[in-house]
Amino acid sequence: MGIRAKFIIIISVLSLLATIAIGASSYWLSRQNALVDAKNKGEMLFNYIGASEKFFSKYQYPIIKEELMMDTDRFIPELMSRFVVSRMSYDLFAETQKGYQFKQATKDPLWPDNKADAGELKIIQEFSSNPGLKEKEGTLMRGGEQFFYIARPVKIDQEFCLKCHGDPAGAPQDQKDIYGTEHGYNWKLNEVVGTSMVYVSIADAMATARTSAIKIFLLGIGCLLVTIACIWVFLDRSVVGPIIRLSETAKNISIGKNLCDSAHSEVQDEIGVLANSIDRLRVSVNKLLKRSCPNQEQK
Ligand code: HEC
Repeated sequence: MGIRAKFIIIISVLSLLATIAIGASSYWLSRQNALVDAKNKGEMLFNYIGASEKFFSKYQYPIIKEELMMDTDRFIPELMSRFVVSRMSYDLFAETQKGYQFKQATKDPLWPDNKADAGELKIIQEFSSNPGLKEKEGTLMRGGEQFFYIARPVKIDQEFCLKCHGDPAGAPQDQKDIYGTEHGYNWKLNEVVGTSMVYVSIADAMATARTSAIKIFLLGIGCLLVTIACIWVFLDRSVVGPIIRLSETAKNISIGKNLCDSAHSEVQDEIGVLANSIDRLRVSVNKLLKRSCPNQEQK
């Protein structure tokens, strides 16, 4: 294999590896940025939902309890359940704000839409077996779309919760009329029954990360091809061509042919040095053979 081919192969392999590394780093960095961005947005949404839930429990619920809940069988979900208030207000929010989801994913819920799916059940299981774990985040696929999620456990931390989620016999009649008595009951004190989930779609950000990585890769390949073409032309003109010509000259000198054709070069590089050495060799051979060349100054 010629010098030119060897040189081009080495340069191509190294440049290709560098291009792949740059493309992959670009994808990784954009992906990291997308995840940080999704996390910030998810936490902001979660904190806002948390604040409105706190407002309900701290300020609204005591008044409702005092004024309206004399009759223990009266239950108006929109007024009396923090979970209904946050679910329904979130649904209104979601009408104008796309790309997010909020779910009170529960193992055995009163409201069927709150039923945890397989991924959420795993997260609930993790919260149950790690009581110290207060938040979890990650990425997962939902309905074919990639999401970043933040999960916080929902634990039955007060006896009060069991009034409606314990033995159905003791739950408000209105609640049983609306939700039935089959699901959402017989929960236990200190049990992790569910997880509040905020999902932030990262599908677009990931697609952008992929596209820009591919663009960078293709640009790198384009630059590589142009570089290879330039190196090819340069090697051909300045290295391989002159070496082939010089080797022909050396061969001719060795057989005493064309001894009057000067190989002298004005080029100040290694090839020029080689050409001038071969030319001196030609002159020496000429002298040895006691020949002289007409019209030529012997250098
Ligand atoms: C006055 C009755 C009542 C009390 C007390 C109550 N809940 Fe609920 N809870 C409900 C109702 C009704 C829903 C259904 C929400 C909906 O329609 O989205 C619900 C929903 C939930 C959900 C969502 C899953 C589901 O069942 O649909 C969780 C989790 C939950 N409650 C936990 C708690 C916890 C924890 C407490 C105590 C801090 C508590 N609840 C106290 C009535 C109550």
